[in-house]
Amino acid sequence: MKRGVLERFKEYLPVTDNTPMFSLGEGDTPLVKSRYIGGEVGCEELYFKLEGCNPTGSFKDRGMVVAVAKAIEEGGTRLVCASTGNTSASAAAYGAYCGIPTTVFVPNENVAGGKLAQAITYGASILRIKGNFDAAFRLVVELTKKHPLVLVNSLNPYRLEGQKTAAFEIIEELESAPDYVFIPVGNAGNISAYWMGFKQAHQMEWTSSMPKMMGFEAEGAAAIVKGAPIEEPETIASGIRVGNPANWDKALVARDESGGAIDSVTDDEIMEAYELMARREGIFCEPASAASVAGLLKLSRNGLHLNGGKAVCIITGTGLKDPDIAYSLEPVAMDEYPAKLSAVEKALDLA
Ligand code: F0G
Repeated sequence: MKRGVLERFKEYLPVTDNTPMFSLGEGDTPLVKSRYIGGEVGCEELYFKLEGCNPTGSFKDRGMVVAVAKAIEEGGTRLVCASTGNTSASAAAYGAYCGIPTTVFVPNENVAGGKLAQAITYGASILRIKGNFDAAFRLVVELTKKHPLVLVNSLNPYRLEGQKTAAFEIIEELESAPDYVFIPVGNAGNISAYWMGFKQAHQMEWTSSMPKMMGFEAEGAAAIVKGAPIEEPETIASGIRVGNPANWDKALVARDESGGAIDSVTDDEIMEAYELMARREGIFCEPASAASVAGLLKLSRNGLHLNGGKAVCIITGTGLKDPDIAYSLEPVAMDEYPAKLSAVEKALDLA
């Protein structure tokens, strides 16, 4: 049985004797070796960390389990978050498991169908805010300052504590830190959490080196790259449609301390990577996750050499979250046939 993030990493998390220990099976996600893209970018050791294999289909579960456990320990009785979809799905699941009422604030547009379906089915209260993620986020922050509600967005430090464990798993599996980590950036919590994890692992001498953190925003939502908040962020990658990242400062620290970069990728580049991941790697990810691979492809085309190095792309969420994007690809033939051998033989040129 999987131990889960709390039990497996308790010595390295703010877990006390009073922290309830539970798990929905988060963590221990696969690190899959690339079959195609690695060769294209001249990197023999390129891996994908499949965070879509977490219980609600995204990396958020690693942080949510810690945030919810600490909320219970500290007497919290109600969870709230703003979300582009994945945080709300995760909060709703862990809230349901622990019997804590959960309220999620989502933008009234651009939330992927699968993510909303999760929040509905897990039984969260859902407030659709007339505005984008940033407006919903400002609102919950204001609300939690005034009322005794537990904020489970990545401003909650326990979220980052939990999410850092993915860095531990990567080091464990590769037996050292990779040279590069490519990661999508939205509210900028995850890049900050990974850097925290790599630094802690380095201090504990689990690795003698640390990776360069390479973060990628979507071009229409690239506040950090442009150096100013974006009022109306736009991108097909709804998961990272964030105009004013809450963890902006921490992401800059991750970039600068690691000697990495934060750059942007266009929607076309994201869709190219999305399709390549599915068709050449067998990995169905959501567009926000494809931003990491799009970033790798972009930097490689611009002359970044990964020869001899190890790189990991963080695949933050599963493609099943957002099937509408899949349907928007170049249509494939899906004709109907009678349920007859001769008919299908003819269709397959086997007659
Ligand atoms: N990938 C996916 C699939 C996401 O859902 C998110 C963020 C990110 C990457 C970026 O991570 O915010 O830590 O920089 N989703 C948030 C949400 C905003 O509400 O679910 P980040």
